[in-house]
Order: sequence, then C-alpha cells, then structure tokens
Amino acid sequence: MQIIAVNIENTKDIKNIMNLIHDTFLSSNIQDSTEGLIKRMKVLYSPENDYTYTLAHFKKSTLFFVAKEQEEIIGMIRWTKDKIINLYVTQKYQWQWIGHILLETFEQAAKKLWSTIIQLKSSKYALPFYAKNGYIVDHHNRLIKYI
Ligand SMILES: CC(C)(COP(=O)(O)OP(=O)(O)OC[C@H]1O[C@@H](n2cnc3c(N)ncnc32)[C@H](O)[C@@H]1OP(=O)(O)O)[C@@H](O)C(=O)NCCC(=O)NCCS
Repeated sequence: MQIIAVNIENTKDIKNIMNLIHDTFLSSNIQDSTEGLIKRMKVLYSPENDYTYTLAHFKKSTLFFVAKEQEEIIGMIRWTKDKIINLYVTQKYQWQWIGHILLETFEQAAKKLWSTIIQLKSSKYALPFYAKNGYIVDHHNRLIKYI
C-alpha cells in the first residue's frame, strides 16, 4: 500500500475517488446522516453526475492524498484551509490501519504548512477512530487536535 499526493489532472483517479466516497458513505455513514447531507453527498459524488462539478470542489484542497493498493484507490483524505473535509477508506479495507496512516501522513504535511491545529466535524461512525488518534471535542462541539 502506498500513500500518494493526488494529481488533480488525472481524470481516472478523480472519478475513482468520487466512487470511493460515494460507496463508502452508502455502506458506512448513510444510517447516521440527515436528509440534507445525503442529498449533498449524492450531488457531489454520484458516479452518474458530471464530475467537473466535484473537480471544482477538489481543486480547493490544500492537501489531498490517496492510499493505493496496486492501482486501486482504497482510501483518501482531503483538507481545505484548516479543516479535514473527507477521510474515507473503502469498506473492504477498513480496520487495517489505512485510515490511521492517511491521517498521520496528512498531519505531518499540515505541520509543514505551519498549521498547529486540525479541526473537523466527524461522522458518528468515525468518532471512536478519531478518539484513538488523539482528537478531542472542543466547546464548539468540533473535533480538534493540536499538532
Ligand atoms: C473512519 C475510517 C476512515 C477509519 O479508517 P480505518 O482504516 O478503518 O481505521 P484504522 O484501521 O486506521 O483504525 C485505527 C484505530 O481506530 C479504530 N477504529 C477505526 N474505525 C473504528 C470504528 N468505526 N469504531 C471503533 N473504532 C474504530 C480501530 O480499531 C483502530 O484501533 P485499534 O487498532 O486499537 O483497534 C473508516 O472507517 C471510514 O472510511 N469510515 C467511513 C467514512 C467516515 O466516517 N469518514 C470520516 C468522515 S469525517
């Protein structure tokens, strides 16, 4: 397994990342999500939608990494300004420390960009994962970690 920075010009990878987010959201998160979030996820990541709309969002990423097994994209993490926007590991590969390695790679890169704090709004599903990785809830109900 390799962690690599995303090449935003690689259309095949961009479409595979969209599929990964879409399918993992359906398998792991949909039961805990509001109607509004489900709608937003469909608009952004449904494979049948025009990918250029999603690409415009992806282009706002300050840091964007994927985990690849051979040529298959099995995980991704994306950060815009000071917030983790997406962290997904495809269901088949979950619980094998890939999420942890993605998060650690990302934290080291964020530190180099002079960030001192990571914040995010976690899915219910991922709360124990973030707790294991040193994230705590602040008084705005966000998850944060000082790095
Ligand atoms: C959250 C997610 C990225 C974790 O990735 P992962 O590769 O499965 O996690 P890891 O294997 O690196 O887990 C690291 C530790 O967290 C624990 N952990 C991971 N997911 C967990 C969960 N859902 N519940 C409880 N503990 C969990 C693991 O047990 C492991 O600790 P251990 O080795 O001491 O047991 C992955 O489950 C996922 O894609 N979930 C769906 C999308 C999502 O909710 N993303 C977060 C959006 S903010």
